[in-house]
Amino acid sequence: MYVCHCNVVSDHTIRAVIADGARDVGDVTDACRAGGNCGGCVPAIEDLLAEAAAAVREPALVGLRQAARRRLAGGGPFVPVPVVVRPAAL
Ligand code: FES
Repeated sequence: MYVCHCNVVSDHTIRAVIADGARDVGDVTDACRAGGNCGGCVPAIEDLLAEAAAAVREPALVGLRQAARRRLAGGGPFVPVPVVVRPAAL
């Protein structure tokens, strides 16, 4: 799905940019130009950044939220996906 229509940038590209280290809208714009024109997509970029940050903080809850969103979107039965959180190595 296109997030930034001005620069034809998809959510997949923005997620990849975030996974590569973008931490704010400016980083995303620098990496893929999304958000660098009218700014109409900035709230959606912020949502993707927040989603990625939440996935780091609360991986199990994000998995449940994604399953719930899929269910609400008609994507099949609600089946929570178990998420294994390993403690960081000491
Ligand atoms: S829609 Fe992204 S800058 Fe205009």
